[in-house]
Amino acid sequence: MQISDELRAGVVTSGPGETEDLGQRVAAALPPDAAIALVGDLGCGKTTFVRGLARGLGIRGNVTSPTYTLYNVYTGDRQLLHLDAYRLENEAAAEALLLEEFLQSPFLLAVEWADRIPGFLKAWPCWWLRLSIEGPEHHCLRLVGAPSAQE
Ligand SMILES: Nc1ncnc2c1ncn2[C@@H]1O[C@H](COP(=O)(O)OP(=O)(O)OP(=O)(O)O)[C@@H](O)[C@H]1O
Ligand SMILES: [Mg+2]
Repeated sequence: MQISDELRAGVVTSGPGETEDLGQRVAAALPPDAAIALVGDLGCGKTTFVRGLARGLGIRGNVTSPTYTLYNVYTGDRQLLHLDAYRLENEAAAEALLLEEFLQSPFLLAVEWADRIPGFLKAWPCWWLRLSIEGPEHHCLRLVGAPSAQE
């Protein structure tokens, strides 16, 4: 089964390693210049998933949470821009970061708390992933449609 179909049905991982593995597989399935929007509560595994994306893009070294820096940039098979929208007020605040200079083809833009800036993400093909905690070590990742309320 294709990873997108699996994720549409929802995948439950048992431990952070499995969430990373999933991220690695997703990295290989995404179109060249794309975004991945991660939505879900504190500690649901957004950063863990991005670690897997990075590994899938051949990025070595530590992927840390961009909570304080707002974003981190990594270079691998393609550029990975890891943005945390938690502290962004709105789309204008995201635009003001002038991230285009880091979005050189081929790139992957991975956004935590993406539901804060849905309009900003319309510029690229984007997978919306909703994460949730289902139990000790068990987290669910589900591919959902883009939010339509904030057109
Ligand atoms: N199945 C699992 N998948 C992902 N993380 C898991 C899983 N089981 C346990 N964990 C733990 O849950 C935590 C997830 O933290 P992570 O920083 O990835 O979440 P986050 O969504 O980025 O949080 P924040 O909203 O603070 O940025 C880690 O401590 C990780 O070890
Ligand atoms: Mg995080």
